[in-house]
Formats: sequence, C-alpha cells, structure tokens
Amino acid sequence: MICVKITSMDKIIISPSILSADFMNLEQEINSVKNAGADWIHIDVMDGHFVPNITVGIPVVKSIRNKTDMFLDVHLMIENPERYIAAFAEAGADLITFHYEAASEPQRVISIIKNCGKKAGISIKPGTEGSKIIPYLNDVDLILVMTVEPGFGGQEFMHDCAMKIPLIKEKASQNLVIQVDGGINNLTGKICKSLGANSLVAGSYIYGSDDYKKAVESLL
Ligand code: DX5
Ligand code: ZN
Repeated sequence: MICVKITSMDKIIISPSILSADFMNLEQEINSVKNAGADWIHIDVMDGHFVPNITVGIPVVKSIRNKTDMFLDVHLMIENPERYIAAFAEAGADLITFHYEAASEPQRVISIIKNCGKKAGISIKPGTEGSKIIPYLNDVDLILVMTVEPGFGGQEFMHDCAMKIPLIKEKASQNLVIQVDGGINNLTGKICKSLGANSLVAGSYIYGSDDYKKAVESLL
C-alpha cells in the first residue's frame, strides 16, 4: 500500500531529489534513502523549454513505480503541463506539481490532476511573487517554493525566496504542505522550517553525502 503522508503540520516531509542520485543504480539509491528515513521521492522532470535542462520523463516514473512503494512527488518543470498530466498519473505519480509560470490556466491544470485522482501541487520560481498563488491555496495539496532557479541541482539557496513562506503559511489551511526546493541543507532547511515550511526537497545535500541517514536526520 502506498502511504500518503499529507496530514500533519508537525511532520517534516523529506523528499530526496533523485536528480543528484546515481542513475545507473537508481533502485538502490531509492531504497537507500527510504532506509535512511526519507518520506517521499522527488522526481524532477525538465523539458529543455521551461528550463534549460532535460532530465527524465514518463517511462522513468513508470519504472520507479514498479520498483518502490514510496510516495512519488513529481515536479514538472515543463511547458503546457496539462498535456502530460494523465500520462504521469498513469505512470504512477502520487503528487504532481506544476509551475504557475508554465500554465495559462492554473485552475484547469489543478482540476486535471485531481480528476486523475492525484494530489496536486503548484510551484513558483524565484521571480514570481508569493501572492500570485494565494488564489489556489484551497485547491491544491502542496505549494512548492523554489529557492533556486529551476533547472539544476547543486545551486546556492536564495534566502529572499524563502521569505515568501510566511505569507503562504498565514493563508494556508492546516493540511497544506509547504515545500521548499533548491539549495537545502541542514542550515537552510532549518531557516525554511522556522518560516513555516513542512516539506524539504534535497538533492545534492543527501545524495552527495556519504551517510544518507545522517543527512536525512539532520533535516528533521
Ligand atoms: C532544481 C530541482 C531540484 C534539485 C534540487 O530545479 O527542482 O529538485 O534537484 O537540488 P539541490 O538540492 O542540490 O539544490
Ligand atoms: Zn525539484
């Protein structure tokens, strides 16, 4: 059974980004972070248009789904996300997060995700004001605040972006997950938690460490 841990604001949901994992040993890399105490697996999908990089797509999500029961947190950094949601849902995503900047009708994208029976998330890039996503807070399960320009792992945390969190937290319902992605380590993770985040994505910090358990626990 897939355990959907979107319930408590007390719990910090740790979602390692496989972008920094060893793709030749992906199954093992996913099992390792699971054993280290991670809650979700964060999969970064990039199309070379919305962001300058290209990563993985639908077949990889499907392959991961076949090998793990972990909650799959799929972060779409693609243009026209509505075109691909059914396919990612079918492939086994549990949560589909799209970018506010990539969607001409965000409300429609949320509805498509919900109609597929999946959790919906909406994300904002560093240059987008936090107020832009306030109208969608009651319709999504998760808000993703980017603290780097989306596209690459291993970038430096942008403190100013984290300052969007308190406004979102103030307007959010109890069950909303406020996730932060980009440059997260034990120190920046602590800042985000103190501002109201309850989910941390970490790629290079976890997969670049030689002790995944220690890295995951240092984020809690
Ligand atoms: C960047 C991705 C992130 C990335 C984070 O566009 O959305 O999920 O993997 O990597 P780190 O944690 O190394 O900043
Ligand atoms: Zn991401």
